[in-house]
Amino acid sequence: MNHKVITIDGPSGVGKGTIAIMIAEELGYNYLDSGSLYRSLALKLYEKNNNFDEVLKNLDYWISDIAIDFRYKDGQKAQIFVNNEDFTDKIRTEKVAILASNIAKDPIARDMLEKYQRKYLSAPGLVADGRDMGTKVFSDANTKFYLTASIEKRAERRLNQLKDQGISANLPALIQKLLLRDKADTERLISPLIPAKDAIIIDTSDIDASEVFNRTINIIRDNLKNI
Ligand code: DC
Repeated sequence: MNHKVITIDGPSGVGKGTIAIMIAEELGYNYLDSGSLYRSLALKLYEKNNNFDEVLKNLDYWISDIAIDFRYKDGQKAQIFVNNEDFTDKIRTEKVAILASNIAKDPIARDMLEKYQRKYLSAPGLVADGRDMGTKVFSDANTKFYLTASIEKRAERRLNQLKDQGISANLPALIQKLLLRDKADTERLISPLIPAKDAIIIDTSDIDASEVFNRTINIIRDNLKNI
């Protein structure tokens, strides 16, 4: 059991990122947004060749010269760089999310990104959010959460996030895109999106971030006491 890792999995729009950052700040732990790695890899591949069927047939070749890294500036959110180019803002669109979900079904891409993800496991601890943090990448984590919410609430939250980033979207179209992504993420053969057997499931449809934070941090503190 790894007592210093907390995993938060779930589909888009359940509040994983917000809660993971709140917990990481509270405990002084590192934070890993694994989705941003999938988004960055997918966008870079798309820029190289927008025919994904072709890319997926020979992924080893297409990813061979791609390097992704996070850079931290004091007091600022991590920025993500691909081959030294800042990808932080341009990976946030729904189009890139769908590309990411497409790439995420490939074992070569998952292997490459799993190695990146493991590098984040350093002292004093890690809060990792994504789709397979508790089931695969950090399956020995001591405290695992799986967040879920109604599709309407998730789409509303995504809509507000996109608006805050100056990206326009409409609710019915966003619902369709989220459903499409859920299908791809839950039905893929490797590391599909499912709750880990030992994950605590929290439905965030009718509770706000501070309530989810209170519930999760109390569970984490109890678990840490029992080490
Ligand atoms: O968390 P996100 O919405 O930024 O993730 C974008 C896509 O990346 C998601 O639809 C599937 C893929 N992904 C994944 O397969 N495994 C992860 N751990 C994180 C993301």
